[in-house]
Amino acid sequence: MKSLPNNIIILGAQWGDEGKGKIVDLLSHGFDIVARYQGGHNAGHTILIGDRKFVLKLIPSGILHPGKRAVIGNGLVIDPAALLTEADALEAAGVDVRGQLRISNRAHVLFPWHRTMEKRISIGTTSRGIGPCYEDKAGRRGIRISDLLDPRIFRVLFDCLVIEKTRIEEAFGIHEPMDYAAIRAEYEAFAVRIQPMVCDAAQFLGDALAKGESVLFEGAQGTMLDLDHGTYPFVTSSSATAGGACTGTGVPPTRIAGILGVSKAYITRVGGGPFPTEALDAAGDAIRNRGNEFGSVTGRPRRCGWFDVPLLRYSAMVNGFDSLIMTKLDVLDELERIPVCVEYRGVSGMPATVAGLERIEPVYEYLPGWQSSTEGISHLEDLPSAARDYIKFLENRTGVEIGCISTGPERNQTIVRSGTRFYELAFASR
Ligand code: IMP
Repeated sequence: MKSLPNNIIILGAQWGDEGKGKIVDLLSHGFDIVARYQGGHNAGHTILIGDRKFVLKLIPSGILHPGKRAVIGNGLVIDPAALLTEADALEAAGVDVRGQLRISNRAHVLFPWHRTMEKRISIGTTSRGIGPCYEDKAGRRGIRISDLLDPRIFRVLFDCLVIEKTRIEEAFGIHEPMDYAAIRAEYEAFAVRIQPMVCDAAQFLGDALAKGESVLFEGAQGTMLDLDHGTYPFVTSSSATAGGACTGTGVPPTRIAGILGVSKAYITRVGGGPFPTEALDAAGDAIRNRGNEFGSVTGRPRRCGWFDVPLLRYSAMVNGFDSLIMTKLDVLDELERIPVCVEYRGVSGMPATVAGLERIEPVYEYLPGWQSSTEGISHLEDLPSAARDYIKFLENRTGVEIGCISTGPERNQTIVRSGTRFYELAFASR
């Protein structure tokens, strides 16, 4: 008999950088496996444990829990140099990466020229080569981890890909000659190091589920950066929304018990693209400074703005959130009043085009600020009443419960609300 699913997906409800890393880390202890399902080293989780800081870009943060397995699913694109740099740093900190990490043999391999080819793309990407690697995947010319591990096949595919990409680079006038023999040799050496961690990840996860083990699926980027559902073309090249967890790992939708969205108490975006509630004034600067809103991968200042209810409702619709986790509430501590966008004037739903998104006129309601510190508070009743009202207001307007609130970067700076769907999914049944 099949056991009841107890696997959950956790992902960003906005444009990424919602603080998923801390929450995944917090929840990891209740799961046997943490799996990433899309993206590459364009993502960046900063996790603080005591005075130790870990920036994880490719490896799921569950790896920091001894004995837990971390899986890199087929939906990712992997720069082996980035992966091994991260693995080495973790090993040096005492993490058993070889023992805990499993890498899908169907994930795609990212090459140095993917960064060159990204020069054609001008939407403010992270310049890591992510989009061009996914282009090769969709173009059916990509090289997968399983190909990398087979020296004979790798040589043939590598040489074909070099010919193809040279043609494309020349056509766009961005050709940069590279020492391909050296790159090939370097990747052959990477293959030797990666090989012990590679497996058929769908099979690995399927076997684990059959044994009753549980999986926490960790999304990277965020809903509005999803290739299909985000603010196209100002998006990343993968399926960041909840559906991506299934296609990006090979675990079927019937095995998912619940979906958690992570949202800031305000909103940010990095890179170009429409941003209806962007605060281009001193208030936006204040959020950036107080919230330390600078990209963890590129260091770019993040664009900051006000909580966007229609965006969150859209995000809840395409993901099917059971509960929301609200992060960085303390960043709003000093504000006298807090604008919240409650509707887009005259527009229902989320416009599909950039022109439509740029025409949005946000309608704001202004909520009283609490002007006292919420930093580190771990019980709801200890929050100032205006902060509790803010949370209640957002719950009512978005239609999604807020089951968890983060009030600082440390694990213990978190409010977990018992009796919520969040509590049930993340803790009660574990
Ligand atoms: P790419 O993923 O590098 O192709 O970039 C596409 C868009 O996604 C750009 O606007 C990036 O700034 C954004 N992006 C990619 N990864 C992240 C992330 O982890 N957090 C926030 N934005 C991201």
